[in-house]
Amino acid sequence: MIAPYISDSFEMLPLKLTESGFSRGKVMLVGDTNTMPIYGNEAGGYLSRVFDGVFCHEFKAGEEHKNLRSVEELLLELLDRRFERGDCVAALGGGVTGDMAGFAAAVYLRGIRVIQLPTTLLAQIDSSIGGKTAVDFNGYKNMVGAFHMPELVYANTSVLKTLPKEQFAAGMGEVIKSAVLGDRELFYWLAGHRGDVMNLLPDALTDMISQTAAIKTGIVTRDPKEQGERALLNLGHTIGHAIEKYMNFEMLHGECVAVGTSAALRISRMRGMIDEAVENEVNALFRDYGLQTKVPGLPEDKILEFTKSDKKMKGGKIRFILPAGIGSAVVSDDVTEEELLCGIRAVTAQKTGND
Ligand SMILES: NC(=O)c1ccc[n+]([C@@H]2O[C@H](COP(=O)([O-])OP(=O)(O)OC[C@H]3O[C@@H](n4cnc5c(N)ncnc54)[C@H](O)[C@@H]3O)[C@@H](O)[C@H]2O)c1
Repeated sequence: MIAPYISDSFEMLPLKLTESGFSRGKVMLVGDTNTMPIYGNEAGGYLSRVFDGVFCHEFKAGEEHKNLRSVEELLLELLDRRFERGDCVAALGGGVTGDMAGFAAAVYLRGIRVIQLPTTLLAQIDSSIGGKTAVDFNGYKNMVGAFHMPELVYANTSVLKTLPKEQFAAGMGEVIKSAVLGDRELFYWLAGHRGDVMNLLPDALTDMISQTAAIKTGIVTRDPKEQGERALLNLGHTIGHAIEKYMNFEMLHGECVAVGTSAALRISRMRGMIDEAVENEVNALFRDYGLQTKVPGLPEDKILEFTKSDKKMKGGKIRFILPAGIGSAVVSDDVTEEELLCGIRAVTAQKTGND
């Protein structure tokens, strides 16, 4: 499994490409309508030091364009430019770009090389790592996809300066989730470095991104095809995803993961796996980084219904990830409907005087 290379510029990109075995050939730089105008020229310039031909392909930004039509347009351009087996796709953008371009690279000529140049916090710590690629299909998220490992993941932290604040906060939702499920030290590091992280200090970003990426890299190395441990990364995603869907994707994914993790904490607490202090500590860290842990007023029955129809079910049972303390979590196949309701209620109940 390739750990991301983290830097605060694109300068080292040619060297890293050469070290990854690239020399000459063609590259298709794929970005969306936000990332390509800002970073296309700069990234393309560095790519041209290694590749003979650099082509650019732009598609419309947004989850609604993570679909087969965008893939088809990219495939047509690859075909037009006569891309061959040894050529390469470079995804310059967030998870949408990485997933869409990665999937096109996975299926073009049964798979050509791909590198990831992630530009959102979420992509730098999560989606660019691990080789999952996919597009949405027929109303379902990530329904059509493939496992296709990138040959290089190059995260330039300086691009986070242009990332909208709410997108950065949503990425922090996944960072904190990762710390809760797998790295106690990172959790307390985050608690102590809030100012540095929020001010985007390069050293703090490098530390945080490398520590968070290492959690995913470790898990995916041990379980590349999600046979077991990889499911832990879905902490906060089952109820979080139900809320995301119910809200018609008006809340960002990482924001919903924070709420979903909060619901999972309550279920763990009801089972006696963690105490109230741990629940409060995690919720407080989410809030410190600008994330809410409740969405008061959502209808609990609807959220339950959406949760039960989530695709992360195994043999008709909900596959649920429960925090077992700060820095550890377990996969559970026996969370009852009553427990789910209890978790949902904890994050949807209207505020009381005690909140
Ligand atoms: N493959 C995986 O393992 C995996 C894991 C988690 C999430 N995902 C997928 O990732 C997607 C979400 O990714 P995302 O949150 O990065 O969303 P995104 O790619 O839509 O990016 C969010 C927004 O920020 C803009 N943007 C990106 N980088 C920017 C920058 N540096 N400056 C200014 N604007 C910038 C984008 O154009 C977009 O408008 C979802 O589709 C999700 O399914 C995949």
